[in-house]
Amino acid sequence: MNHFWMPFTANRDFKKAPRLFSSAKGMFYKTPDGREILDGSSGLFCCAAGHGRVEIARAVYQQLSELDYASPFQSAHPLAFQLANALSQITPGDLNHIFFTCSGSEAVESAMRISLAYHQAMGQSSRTRFVSRERAYHGVNIGGASLGGMVKNRRALGPGYPDVVHMRHTWQEERRFVRGQDVQGQHLADDLERFVQCYGAETIAACVVEPVAGSTGVLVPPVGYLQRLREICDEHQILLIFDEVICGFGRLGRAFAADAFGVVPDIMTMAKALTNGAQPMGAVAVSEKVHRAVINATENEQFIELFHGYTYSAHPAACSAALAALAIYEEEQLFERAAQLSAVFLDAVFSLRDLPAITDIRGYGLLAGFDLIPKGEPGLHGYALQKALYEAGLHIKTTGDAGIIAPPLITEEKHIQHMVDVLASVLKGVG
Ligand SMILES: Cc1ncc(COP(=O)(O)O)c(C=O)c1O
Repeated sequence: MNHFWMPFTANRDFKKAPRLFSSAKGMFYKTPDGREILDGSSGLFCCAAGHGRVEIARAVYQQLSELDYASPFQSAHPLAFQLANALSQITPGDLNHIFFTCSGSEAVESAMRISLAYHQAMGQSSRTRFVSRERAYHGVNIGGASLGGMVKNRRALGPGYPDVVHMRHTWQEERRFVRGQDVQGQHLADDLERFVQCYGAETIAACVVEPVAGSTGVLVPPVGYLQRLREICDEHQILLIFDEVICGFGRLGRAFAADAFGVVPDIMTMAKALTNGAQPMGAVAVSEKVHRAVINATENEQFIELFHGYTYSAHPAACSAALAALAIYEEEQLFERAAQLSAVFLDAVFSLRDLPAITDIRGYGLLAGFDLIPKGEPGLHGYALQKALYEAGLHIKTTGDAGIIAPPLITEEKHIQHMVDVLASVLKGVG
């Protein structure tokens, strides 16, 4: 137990009574002692097609047997192009150029680098500031953590990336239990305009938001909010970046949140369900405008255009897993399935609203969050819930005193009902 330093985990407490998963199939994990645990959050928002997909396992095995690794710098392998083509078929608008990374955090970092490179190419090197949002989560590397807006994630960060300012988050205390998009709150996007007035548009590279803020407990954007961000960005030549690491791949009932909300960003990040969680991989989809500017910035075609990339960018195993996952999503129409199941899912989750432990519920598509009354220090109630759910046979993600439900898109109504029943009975116990 001692040697594995677990990420985002209360290591000392965990190791006294480990919560282990030893196998998984479909909607369920199994514990080493043979108990089934229903997966209510797709692992960590990864396994959209459910667990143990043999199509993916076979594809990875075949790929590793044929070509295990190729340097992605100045050489390549065919699957990387095939996957970029496949992704560009489903990305919204003209987000047709795909840069591969190994995680969501690296996708965010890469999106920041690409934004800076774009403005340099446009002769506007003064645009180095990023506008983000309170309660945002954009991964753990220095750039993404600096964009982040959750205080505990920022504590061991030091000064971080120097030029980040945060808009208000979109949770409105007086408007609780709003299902889907709230009709009020569009004005919150005007924070971006205020930053333009305060700092000057010529200092701002990009505005980065999760279309639905996921890790903080699912904050759905009010009607018109993302449209307003798009308008302000267009007016001031600020790039709009959507971090779709959680929202992407059908979670909101369309391929991407950009489709669900009808707003196309200039750059979009993705990860997690890209490979159904079977291989670590992230990606950045970049618009024609941004790509063209960066690629053509140097006249000499023998020069590298962007000095950025990872040893494992477009790793063959990850590409094969992603292609197999995309094929499953298409064949099983899983994005459409998420849209169809959304009403049943949200009905079930919102049925918890009268529990005394719950102070708010929000949701869109197959993604929902709820807040618990704090008990003692912030986060302890959420942690107690996480532990009790393991014993009761349900896995969901908790962040602080919020719970996040995001079942695999293969979920059936009976699983949704079971999730809510377990949550209700456990919350009566720990609440
Ligand atoms: C919106 C968002 N961006 C970035 C990340 C970081 O992804 P990863 O943990 O793969 O680095 C996450 C992870 O939950 C996320 O939700």
